[in-house]
Amino acid sequence: MILITEFMDEVAVNLLKKKYDVYYDSSLVEDPNSLIKKILKMKALIVRNKTLVTRELIENAPNLKCVGRLGVGLDNIDLNACKEQNIAVYPALGANSHSVAEYVICTSMLLLRKAYFKKNEMIAGNWPRQESSGSEVYGKTLGFIGFGDIARKTRDLAIGLGINTVAYDPYLDKDSNVWKDTKNLDLDYLLSISDIISLHIPLTEETKNLLNENKLSLIKKSSVIINAARGGVIDENQLAKLLKENKIAGAALDVFNNEPVNKEYAKKFEGIDNLILTPHVGGVTKESNKRVSELIAKKIDFHLSKK
Ligand SMILES: NC(=O)c1ccc[n+]([C@@H]2O[C@H](COP(=O)([O-])OP(=O)(O)OC[C@H]3O[C@@H](n4cnc5c(N)ncnc54)[C@H](O)[C@@H]3O)[C@@H](O)[C@H]2O)c1
Repeated sequence: MILITEFMDEVAVNLLKKKYDVYYDSSLVEDPNSLIKKILKMKALIVRNKTLVTRELIENAPNLKCVGRLGVGLDNIDLNACKEQNIAVYPALGANSHSVAEYVICTSMLLLRKAYFKKNEMIAGNWPRQESSGSEVYGKTLGFIGFGDIARKTRDLAIGLGINTVAYDPYLDKDSNVWKDTKNLDLDYLLSISDIISLHIPLTEETKNLLNENKLSLIKKSSVIINAARGGVIDENQLAKLLKENKIAGAALDVFNNEPVNKEYAKKFEGIDNLILTPHVGGVTKESNKRVSELIAKKIDFHLSKK
């Protein structure tokens, strides 16, 4: 039996239903007590990023063989607990990368151009032409922190727009082909020269608060920063402070330390002009939802069909 606790594309759910008993309830993610009761008989579990697959949940799942993750980051899954119980974990590698890559390019252009948020002023009868003149992305330097699948797909789009690309990723071989069109830099230098900085690292003990006060202070006054990786890799309070003091020109945040963001939490962002906030949707589009769901349905079917 397969348990699905967050939204999954209907076509993929129906594919699984043809072969297996499927219990699909996207509200279960909000109800850990019911989830822990339901998991008892399940052979497979499918989640997005909100369901916490904890050690306690795993220990209450004696029949569980595999977990499908409708996305990439695995920070909501206790991987050690899964390994100990011989439970396979399948992320949807690559299936939502295009959505995030487009998000990064789009928000880079919006932040640098500064022209797109004047509707209310214009409806009020103003003509804010002077302050709406921003910059092109053409000829600018885009610095990636983490140079895996998403960053490289973003690089491919960026090159078409005449953007120079640099990256920091100490885990990639220096001689690898991935550096063909992108300069391999250390983190401090990348931060000090990039016009657009985009984060693409997983949230781990090592990357937690990687962009702390000290690192953020290296960014140029004219630069913008985009975080569509994970909340927690950047000091949001310090970033908000620097934006308010005009020491960084703009930012787009898709992911946050605490999700979902509530009114109290969002107060730190009040009054900042050149700031785009989105509710963790960098990787979520109609197309990626189909790709991610189909890929995970296939992985789970493959795993459960194995003798
Ligand atoms: N906003 C969204 O909706 C959304 C969607 C998909 C993925 N994500 C996030 O984006 C992240 C990147 O996804 P991906 O598919 O490119 O993953 P990936 O595994 O292909 O790439 C991650 C890269 O980060 C590098 N890295 C790891 N630790 C590092 C460190 N300390 N310093 C520098 N580099 C380091 C790795 O070597 C790897 O090349 C995911 O982990 C996920 O958290 C967000």
